[in-house]
Amino acid sequence: MDTNEFAVLKLFVVGILVNAWMMSGMSATDSFSTEPTLPRPRKVCNESRLKWEMEVCGEDFKKDMAHIEPQHWCNLTHFISEYHLFTHCTERKSLIVDCYWPNPLVESYIIRIHKHFFSNCTLEQVVWVDPPDDTLTILILIPVFLTLAMISLVVWCSKRSDILA
Ligand SMILES: *[C@@H]1O[C@H](CO)[C@@H](O)[C@H](O)[C@H]1NC(C)=O
Ligand SMILES: *[C@@H]1O[C@H](CO)[C@@H](O)[C@H](O)[C@H]1NC(C)=O
Ligand SMILES: *[C@@H]1O[C@H](CO)[C@@H](O)[C@H](O)[C@H]1NC(C)=O
Repeated sequence: MDTNEFAVLKLFVVGILVNAWMMSGMSATDSFSTEPTLPRPRKVCNESRLKWEMEVCGEDFKKDMAHIEPQHWCNLTHFISEYHLFTHCTERKSLIVDCYWPNPLVESYIIRIHKHFFSNCTLEQVVWVDPPDDTLTILILIPVFLTLAMISLVVWCSKRSDILA
């Protein structure tokens, strides 16, 4: 059983989500502490538009996945870049329509996409059989390091605002 590798995949996805969450949290606190230099007023998240934009990202992802042989749909090596484009798309579109990312709507949409493409993948299939190469290791480590960097930044920022207060 390759449960370990599946766990790594999950960790990777969670890492991306945590990063995004921390970044959006930071920009939210920023807009509190720096009222005079607010770049643009925070608008309300338009959920119906967000839903529509998610469909656009999903359609792009479906088109990309159509170029990949269905028997490779469970092979992360084959679709990691398409998957990355998809999550990047959901992130970009969320920001465009003034929604935080990730948010429950985006998450449930991503889960729907997972069900659509990866529901038939068994644990043994979902993963790369060959030992993860350096690229993959780096891909997994980047979110981890980003998270650590974000935590230090948040700590540093809160210390700074303590001094200023
Ligand atoms: C949300 O977006 C839709 C579609 O673009 C638009 O018709 C609607 O008026 C928007 N709602 C708000 C509250 O801005
Ligand atoms: C999963 O398997 C079912 C039944 O074999 C099939 O109808 C469906 O198209 C498959 N889905 C994917 C994403 O391969
Ligand atoms: C996934 O794809 C890579 C590259 O084509 C291949 O080397 C590997 O054997 C595949 N793994 C599975 C489980 O099919």
